[in-house]
Amino acid sequence: MSKPKVIVTRKWPEPVEAKLKELYDVQLNESDVAMTPAQMKDALANCDAFCPTVTDPVNADVLSGDNISAKIIGSYGVGYNHLDLDAAKARGLTVTNTPEVLTDCTADIAMGLLLSAARRIGEGERHLRSGEWTGWRPTHMMATKVTGKTLGCIGFGRIAQATAARAHFGFGMNIVFSDPYPPLQEVINKFGATQMSVEDVLQKSDFVSLHCPGGKDTYHLLNEERIGMMQKHAVLINSARGDVIDNQALISALKNGTIAGAGLDVFEGEPKLDPGFLDCENAVLLPHLGSASIETRIAMGERVLENLRAFFAGETPRDKLV
Ligand code: DGY
Repeated sequence: MSKPKVIVTRKWPEPVEAKLKELYDVQLNESDVAMTPAQMKDALANCDAFCPTVTDPVNADVLSGDNISAKIIGSYGVGYNHLDLDAAKARGLTVTNTPEVLTDCTADIAMGLLLSAARRIGEGERHLRSGEWTGWRPTHMMATKVTGKTLGCIGFGRIAQATAARAHFGFGMNIVFSDPYPPLQEVINKFGATQMSVEDVLQKSDFVSLHCPGGKDTYHLLNEERIGMMQKHAVLINSARGDVIDNQALISALKNGTIAGAGLDVFEGEPKLDPGFLDCENAVLLPHLGSASIETRIAMGERVLENLRAFFAGETPRDKLV
């Protein structure tokens, strides 16, 4: 029996590419250049399994071809706002993602951004490298203490809980959160966390960390009005999706001192960065590194492989979205 044909849109870590080659008739992307919508359409018409990642918009148009041969979309990444699940379901496609394996790494980045923004770590390093440092003094680059402060999570799923665990058990922080689908009470009790509305989280927190999905339901949730509800000394962290924040509203808030700072790993319209952010010394900016550890990126690939294995064995893949 011939091996199923698998098309992968971007370069994956070497060990998982080696397994793909062993198991499938695979088309890899050595150049690592993103596919155009036309190329994705063509790929869907010429494979059994199509493996995009979170930067490939597999939208209704890409899924509109009348000659789709793919039966499964095995997406590499946990977020799925780049996939039109309704369109995929209507075409009879199975769609999977890669949850769990990137939880700890993404929580590490959220916590890293929180610490960096609170303690001016990026700014301090730039200061040192510029040769401007004249030595220790009592009032030099004073920042905000983290221990014992309140962390507010908007969205309280796996990554938020892992961030809360770091903040609560590592830094003695109080946890408040908002989520339309809260976890079990025993999970909430573990952190002594308090559930409240988004607005209350914004008003009561010293640090606000976004952990909700992207897409139309959360588009610009953090707009001018809601950012304005945050405390003047508060810091906003985003390791979720860029479009949850209205860039212009945040840039103005950072420049006017409406809030004290931000730590951002994701941006609306990324990889294009709104130049306004570059003028904000009080913003820590990272290029979407949440899951970027070697171990995690291999585990994400292995999770796609496991989903494909199950699908081609006639089982229900564990990460089936539709
Ligand atoms: C995801 O998986 O959704 C992240 O944004 C990238 O790892």
